[in-house]
Amino acid sequence: MSAIGVFDSGYGGLTILDGIRHLMPEYDYIYYGDNARAPYGTRSFDVVYEYTLEAVQKLFGMGCPLVILGCNTASAKALRTIQQHDLPRLAPDRRVLGVIRPTAEVVGSITHSRHVGILATEGTIRSESYTLEIHKLFPDIVVTGLACPMWVPLVENGEYDKPAADYFIRERIETLLHSDPLIDTIILGCTHYPLLINKIRKYCPPTVEIMTQGGYIASSLKDYLARHPEMDARLGRGGTVQYFTSESPERFRENASIFLSTNIKVNKME
Ligand code: DGL
Repeated sequence: MSAIGVFDSGYGGLTILDGIRHLMPEYDYIYYGDNARAPYGTRSFDVVYEYTLEAVQKLFGMGCPLVILGCNTASAKALRTIQQHDLPRLAPDRRVLGVIRPTAEVVGSITHSRHVGILATEGTIRSESYTLEIHKLFPDIVVTGLACPMWVPLVENGEYDKPAADYFIRERIETLLHSDPLIDTIILGCTHYPLLINKIRKYCPPTVEIMTQGGYIASSLKDYLARHPEMDARLGRGGTVQYFTSESPERFRENASIFLSTNIKVNKME
């Protein structure tokens, strides 16, 4: 029986894995963080696509019939090409899913003003993937995206709860709400940002809903498996999680403690 693969450029996808495991603890999972080449947020379309395809193939090689791109940047820049171009050729019986579509699907039932803000990496914002996906489903919603290039480094360097983080968080929130004061819902479109949630809430008016993705991705995956029993039947249910990184396992284990409350064993991805 096979595991569900969860891929991220680094640690951020652990917030997605956490949400999925919370809802579906019985499945087996393999998490892979490409920490050696993170961050992806500032890289070109071609590079993110190449790295993501490599990662997906590694997870396929470990027997995963289903891979979730837990990374928004990879979902924005590589998912469509992998689904349409690579899967039919490489592994027609396997599936790769992303995090942007499931997030876009729920935003229409959350916003009342129909004005939504997206905070994400530069790559995700430039791709306009959120705007495109939201407009496919809810053409009436006004979407404003803003890149937050300092936020991932704040989390990666353990500064996310320190006073220095306040400046960068306040400045981005104020800029976003200044460009569209009617925004009543903000999507945190990057896997690292849930770690900044307390400070983000501090600088947002209480009337603004802040959407973190883990729970929505989990519900969407559960729904997908209910609609695809042939895929569900291929998935192992031992409740196990294996962690892999392209960097140092020791470093991953230490830094992952920011994202997870449990101690984990980490392996090097060859
Ligand atoms: N995991 C990435 C995302 O969700 C952020 C980190 C990076 O830039 O690699 O967009």
